[in-house]
Amino acid sequence: MSVMPADPHLPVAHLRPPRNWINDPNGLAFHEGHYHVCFQYNPYGPEHANMHWGHFRSPDLLTWEELPLALTPTPGGEDADGCFSGNAVSDGDRMVAFYSAFRTDRWAQPVTTAESRDNGVTWTPRGSLLIPEPPAGATMYRDPYVWREAGRWRMLVGSAQADGRAAALLYESEDLEHWDYRGPFLARTPQPVAPGADTGLGWECPQYLHANGRGALILSVWDPERGPRRTVVHPGREEAGRFLADAPVLLDHGPDFYAPALLPAPDGRWLLWGWSWEARDPEWVREVCWAGLLTLPREVTLAEDGSVRQRPAAELLGLRGERAVTAAGVTSGTAVLGTVGGSFDLTARLEPRGAGAAGSLRVVTSADGAEYLDIRVDPAAGELVVDRDHASLDPRAHGGTYRIPCPEAETTCDDPIELRLVVDRSVAELYLPSGRTLTLRFYPTGGSPWRIEARAAGGGHLGYAVGAWGLRPYTMQGTADAHAH
Ligand code: FRU
Repeated sequence: MSVMPADPHLPVAHLRPPRNWINDPNGLAFHEGHYHVCFQYNPYGPEHANMHWGHFRSPDLLTWEELPLALTPTPGGEDADGCFSGNAVSDGDRMVAFYSAFRTDRWAQPVTTAESRDNGVTWTPRGSLLIPEPPAGATMYRDPYVWREAGRWRMLVGSAQADGRAAALLYESEDLEHWDYRGPFLARTPQPVAPGADTGLGWECPQYLHANGRGALILSVWDPERGPRRTVVHPGREEAGRFLADAPVLLDHGPDFYAPALLPAPDGRWLLWGWSWEARDPEWVREVCWAGLLTLPREVTLAEDGSVRQRPAAELLGLRGERAVTAAGVTSGTAVLGTVGGSFDLTARLEPRGAGAAGSLRVVTSADGAEYLDIRVDPAAGELVVDRDHASLDPRAHGGTYRIPCPEAETTCDDPIELRLVVDRSVAELYLPSGRTLTLRFYPTGGSPWRIEARAAGGGHLGYAVGAWGLRPYTMQGTADAHAH
């Protein structure tokens, strides 16, 4: 059965249940031929409360099945007030989920586990804490991430320290049951680095990716006094249980991306899903009764130069439907390239030509052209600028302009700017060949079809070559009794 949601903003190819609140991806694991994707889920409403783990699984990243709730808080138990974030690993014939046990009468969210022996359909919580006490000095403690490396199990837990440093704490185990604390894998004072990439007071959801002697630590930065939550990545390498970190950079340049989590796939790829929250007022969220979605699965690679690169998982080409736009040319004004539905996958090459030339790719979502999402080339700054100030005529939608470095934009003619834009009703994911991404939400009020335009600016010409395909909905199998509407 395909899902054709009635709400025009509900995505068709981004994972989330039809109603209620979701946040972080959790429990990502490959087990018995399936990718498992759990997520923070409130089955009772569109706000952050009663955190459970919802659960999808798929053999191919295209056909998904929603399973019953994986984790449910136990009344009176260690996780009485919520099953917070964590991951899962496959250990032969079972999956073990590691998660943060939330109780309002305790500041820490200590690590506990649950296991499944039927490929994720049912889970048995251990009922007690696996690691009851955080190490001395911690003032925030949550979000275990467990992985297998060099014949042993390893775990990072996100934390803040009394001395003002954020830290990812390292544990090791032979058997997933007995864990030894090895000290901070990395600890840092907030320091100004690349704009917006401060590493904050506390780290949530630490994730670690490693290949060919290099590593990258992905950290979701919690620092209420120093701006919105953001996700940074430290490239670097490990030496004897300590991570030698290079300067951090933003993992995603958009305003609506947080708490990404990794899944090591059996073919050696690292897949990553993030949480994209709402960018509209809570009153509107209550009206539609859903909030949050998971990003597309992304393949993450560590490049030779140490940078971390993301691109949509190759499988997602399988969601491309009919080709809607095929256009190439040069304009000194506005070229209308064709129309698309509310979910599409687009590739573009843009070449501003002439001194001072600039240009944009515009997704126009109202017939009169007043409502649009703009992706502008700013050659002077070497950036692409995503502008959603006009992306919704509804004043309850948030605006703003967001910049993503695009060194190719500094030149004209010789190096065209390439991009891939995947739009799914109210979410846009922009991918550049450098592996940089920008994720944001927007809420068009005009029904599709939408118009794709190439627009020259700055008195020059804009060369363009654009292709767009409709994005087909994920196939959803079964209707697990997973919701408590
Ligand atoms: C990140 C986070 C985690 C926590 C979970 C609770 O978004 O705050 O640190 O475990 O969400 O839902």
